Amino acid sequence: MSDHGDPIPMTSHRAAPLNGVAEVPGDKSISHRALILGALSVGESRISGLLEGQDVLDTASAMRAFGADVQQHGPGEWSVHGVGVGGFAEPAQVIDCGNSGTGVRLIMGAMATSPIAATFTGDASLRSRPMGRITDPISLFGARAYGRSGGRLPMTILGAADPVPVRYTVPIPSAQVKSAVLLAGLNAPGETIVIEREATRDHTERMLAGFGAELRVEDSEEGRVITLTGQPELRPQNVAVPRDPSSAAFPVCAALIVQGSEITVPGVSQNPTRNGIYTTLVEMGADISFENPREEGGEPVADLRVRFSQLRGVEVPPGRAASMIDEYPVLSVVAAFAEGRTVMRGVKELRVKESDRIDAMARGLEANGVTVEEEEDTFIVHGLGQGGVPGGALCATHLDHRIAMSFLVLGMAAQKPVRIDDAGPVATSFPVFEPLMTDLGAKLERTGA
Ligand code: S3P
Repeated sequence: MSDHGDPIPMTSHRAAPLNGVAEVPGDKSISHRALILGALSVGESRISGLLEGQDVLDTASAMRAFGADVQQHGPGEWSVHGVGVGGFAEPAQVIDCGNSGTGVRLIMGAMATSPIAATFTGDASLRSRPMGRITDPISLFGARAYGRSGGRLPMTILGAADPVPVRYTVPIPSAQVKSAVLLAGLNAPGETIVIEREATRDHTERMLAGFGAELRVEDSEEGRVITLTGQPELRPQNVAVPRDPSSAAFPVCAALIVQGSEITVPGVSQNPTRNGIYTTLVEMGADISFENPREEGGEPVADLRVRFSQLRGVEVPPGRAASMIDEYPVLSVVAAFAEGRTVMRGVKELRVKESDRIDAMARGLEANGVTVEEEEDTFIVHGLGQGGVPGGALCATHLDHRIAMSFLVLGMAAQKPVRIDDAGPVATSFPVFEPLMTDLGAKLERTGA
């Protein structure tokens, strides 16, 4: 949904120790994929634990517009009656993906090899983000794209009537691009091959295999080579969506910096393509124990017990960026409470997320008394140690849910309250953030800016 309504200014006051169990909602990446692959199967898939954030609800509406029957049966309980690979109908209206880069990019891929036209748009944040990274590879299948200058939305895609399979090396580490090419390859005859030099989140590959696609993944000198055989008949599945490790990072990071805290976060993914933040926090000296390792919804998970910790700054290697790309904003908050510098390299993709996340975090941290340095591809935070962040400033969140939540976490441990201009976008990925954090002991107040 493009219309975010009136801004919701919010103030985060210094919190008492955080205690309790933080049951974070379902994984956003997996939720989008479950709806899309359900829509591309013949028959009815059942999804439990679906994230009911606005991003995912927008993907559900889009799947209806392409002809799937998508129904909600209870909280997190959904069904998708799919139309099969190649069965998408031409939508009668513009597809509005709201704030969601994942939604629009995956759906563009999924429709690119069907002989239909679709026009996509989104909110001001999404309309400023580059789509050339998707239109380049889907044009190789034979699709055509007509968008605004710079490859921006609104954009119309004419799907290929006679698609050809492609071999494509993803030029940037991006699971969205990889996934769009694989989804396009579903309706092309023959083998579509996607090569990624660095491994990114692998939910699309796991789920495609689960829905019955023929897919091989091999490691080679070029990188990870994924070979998909086109035009399979996907079989409907029951998908149990595990909890979102990116959402879990917010209560985990808050507990690490609020003195005296001890919380449990059950069922956090330990998928190596997603858990870079936890590796980094442990390197910083975080007291996190990983209990009851098991498998849930096809993903390795563990229950995290997290205690307030004395942290030290670290160098985060560029090779880890893909596995924690959404967690750098909240890591930069944690880094402000560590002793010494935290250096984050290889992070320029952060500049084309829901906002320029390096710039947004740099400005907000500076306003709250933290010294930072930024280059195009590097972000450095000079830690002030436990309790050392002055706070007291208003932060601009630029329609970016993770920027909003990161500054609210900052306020929980800063000396003076931290304000944000708009908590509205938090609902895109973590609609229960406010009650969940308040139950743990956070003091969040809806205020005038
Ligand atoms: C996602 C991939 C990442 C990530 C986004 C979700 C996905 O984007 O930032 O929040 O579900 O595939 P990129 O592919 O642009 O790195």
